[in-house]
Amino acid sequence: MTTGSEMLKLLRVRRKQYSLPQPFYTDASFYEQDLKGIFERRWILAGLECEVREPGEYFELTIARSSVIVLRDNDGEVAAFFNTCRHRGSTICPPGHGKVRALACPYHQWTYNLKGQLTYAGGMHGGFDPSTIALKSVQVEVFAGMIFVCLAEDAPDFSSFSATLGPYLAPHDLRSAKLAWSEDLVINANWKLVVENSRECYHCPSRHRELVRTFLLHYDVDASAAYAEHARKSERAGLLAGAEMGDDFQLARIPLADGATSLTMDGKPVCTKLLGTVPNGDIGSMRWFHFPSMFAHVLGDYAFFFRLLPLSVDRTLVTSKWLVNGEAEEGRDYDPKKLAELWSVTNDQDRDLCERNQEGVRSLGFQPGPYSQSRESHVIKFVDWYADAMDDWLRPDTRRAAIAV
Ligand code: FES
Ligand SMILES: [Fe+2]
Repeated sequence: MTTGSEMLKLLRVRRKQYSLPQPFYTDASFYEQDLKGIFERRWILAGLECEVREPGEYFELTIARSSVIVLRDNDGEVAAFFNTCRHRGSTICPPGHGKVRALACPYHQWTYNLKGQLTYAGGMHGGFDPSTIALKSVQVEVFAGMIFVCLAEDAPDFSSFSATLGPYLAPHDLRSAKLAWSEDLVINANWKLVVENSRECYHCPSRHRELVRTFLLHYDVDASAAYAEHARKSERAGLLAGAEMGDDFQLARIPLADGATSLTMDGKPVCTKLLGTVPNGDIGSMRWFHFPSMFAHVLGDYAFFFRLLPLSVDRTLVTSKWLVNGEAEEGRDYDPKKLAELWSVTNDQDRDLCERNQEGVRSLGFQPGPYSQSRESHVIKFVDWYADAMDDWLRPDTRRAAIAV
């Protein structure tokens, strides 16, 4: 039996609202299918518009097996290309962030303009026409300050996510924000365990003492009254309130714990300049997630982005980014250490939880267990989404179509 048919069989007989069978978390050949069925087919958060503000600014990221360059071209458009030279395939840009006038391959100096067109290929034979060659482009969607990319040619629908979330984010004006801090963390766990962990707060009271000082657990006894009051307050402030859900995303404007105006160690704001045009800093959190790669919170004073990328069957890269008002000055308006403290502490606690989870899931004694329908409803949603997405990919007709392209 091939890995694909074995996965499909297990997905179809899996017990719903239970964690997945062991090989989904531990088997390298299942992981390879995840890369093909999820990370090479779906929209992935590449980065933020403020990271490529100027023409020629670029950053690199690796999605599944492919290094990708995201840049701003001379027309001010954001573009993305496979970071693979059309000569003999060397990567062109090193990892990280930079600013260039053109993309020159370090191997034999083939050079591409910011539209990806080959403009120079010295030493080639007569009759060779560089104008027929260009870097392979990657699909891009830019909205509300975020840059998503999709490696597949037939990208899934993105408009339902962007059209739903866009109006909620408009007053926060993330396009004008600036990147104040970012951190990478490698978690020794399968990417799905990292998503599962990020989609529930069942573990928060015991393992995130700092976070729960300000983060209101939605199943707390007094939460529904707080949510209703927060919706009224948001509307009075001119902010779209409520919660919405799509196939691969969910969003909600949520209150914070009593007395807190930001998600920080002490509940007080960490930046004196507010983001966007919000009326005051006491607006709770606008939060959303998009499968498979991200979740975010926007507070009155800062925005936090959490993005994950798989590195191997049991290693996941988590990149966290903190945005503040574009005019805010480090040292005067905010201290990066204080800005990042709560989520850094929380991420490290989550790293420990995910790594222990991976260790236990590897055991001969592991058997999928039941999720809590109240505390882990978002985990159930994620696992159902994953199972449907993989079923769609693994069904023979889908794979035949992909191979024929
Ligand atoms: S591989 Fe890029 S110039 Fe040769
Ligand atoms: Fe957590």
